[in-house]
Amino acid sequence: MREVVAFLGLGANIGDRERAIRTAVERLGVTPGIRVLRVSSLRETELVGDGPPQGMFLNGACSIATSLPASALLSVCKALELAAGRTLPAPRNHPRALDVDLLLFGEEHIDTKELTVPHPRLFERAFVLEPLRELGVSEQALSDLRPMPAPRLVTTTREFQAICSTWIEGGCLTGLVPTMGALHAGHGSLFECARKECDRVAATIFVNPKQFGPKEDLAAYPRDLPGDLRLCAKSGVDVVFAPSPAEMYAPGFASNIDVGAEGETMEGATRPGHFRGVSTVVARLFAIARPHRAYFGQKDAQQVAVLRRLVRDLGFPLRLVECPTVREADGLAMSSRNVYLDAKDRAAAPVIHRALRAAQQAFAGGLRDRDALVQVATAVLAGEPRATIDYLELRSEGDLLPLPIGPVAGGRMLAAVRFSGGRTVRLLDNMSVVASFENSGS
Ligand code: PAJ
Repeated sequence: MREVVAFLGLGANIGDRERAIRTAVERLGVTPGIRVLRVSSLRETELVGDGPPQGMFLNGACSIATSLPASALLSVCKALELAAGRTLPAPRNHPRALDVDLLLFGEEHIDTKELTVPHPRLFERAFVLEPLRELGVSEQALSDLRPMPAPRLVTTTREFQAICSTWIEGGCLTGLVPTMGALHAGHGSLFECARKECDRVAATIFVNPKQFGPKEDLAAYPRDLPGDLRLCAKSGVDVVFAPSPAEMYAPGFASNIDVGAEGETMEGATRPGHFRGVSTVVARLFAIARPHRAYFGQKDAQQVAVLRRLVRDLGFPLRLVECPTVREADGLAMSSRNVYLDAKDRAAAPVIHRALRAAQQAFAGGLRDRDALVQVATAVLAGEPRATIDYLELRSEGDLLPLPIGPVAGGRMLAAVRFSGGRTVRLLDNMSVVASFENSGS
């Protein structure tokens, strides 16, 4: 039977610490499929990280040869903790009668819901590294095993697909956040939402040529991969997929997703083929990553409506999560394109938010007529000579279908407004006209 050499970390800070550790090693020695090879010396250490005041730890490690798979070895570690009187699940950084961590398992990298090997915090902890060195683990082996700092950047579809498959097979709930980069706090909120809900988070950064028209700003679209990676690191993204156009669309790529008539209104009317490009790239990302959840911003409400349709029509087995719009302090919705506004346009741009709020306020005050509500917002925008309305519509909430003329029970108002002081910048925003003012951020 093939044996693997594995290393276990052992620690305790309540009761007879040394006895707990020695007993655990004895129990390991009589466990079928495990031979204890060596045990390191034990050392006293303070708690690393935050936690309630508590006594010093006694820490060490042991090497074993095992024919057990890593998942079974993890169960043995948990059983040893239980036998020592520890109650599981244990809160992090609380005093413990025994801690048994699977540090290394041969040269394997394991990334499942239950188990990450090498142990994720191993490389920062002297009280783990010292015993490992004592047990003969070389600096070279440690440096070979050291994972790349998160987020891991991958550029090939094959690599990205392999990582996502490993996560899924390891039982992880996976979240995907598609972006075009030039990331700001709006994107950051999507990452954070995914981080809260999912075991693993992948972000994609790809300025998708298919969703830009021939006269649009594809070449000039802002790009800042180092800055993007910093934000991803801060937001807890595990992997960033940033492919080249040729990697995303191999030569001969010919399949495009037709999104129907609604995709040709509003943004689709101004930017013919835009949603076809968005839907094609997003469907391709779904096919590569197979996420359980995918995160999009309400800031691009029509994009969300089109993508919901896509998920329903094609039956992608995932949940599409819509996150609220993140705004600057003056109400301007954050956008990668805001950097193009000259100083005067930037000062004028919050008028979009004010216009949408005026319509919302009018609705709250009893105004119900569709066109009258649109007129309220139009009047506010007309008061700002730097702003030119591209479209301003009140649509049904959710699927954003046109509403009939006359009284409405609510809806979502969507605006695209141009500013042309420097270069022409088109900004999008939208707001529910029934939401309370406290919730008007979305
Ligand atoms: P991009 O404009 O980079 O936006 C990526 C995601 O971030 C989108 O879901 C967008 O709605 C969200 N987002 C942008 N600004 C936001 C803000 N202020 N608050 C909250 N969320 C915000 O949208 C795209 O890229 C592309 O069309 C894409 C879906 C990636 C397909 O290429």
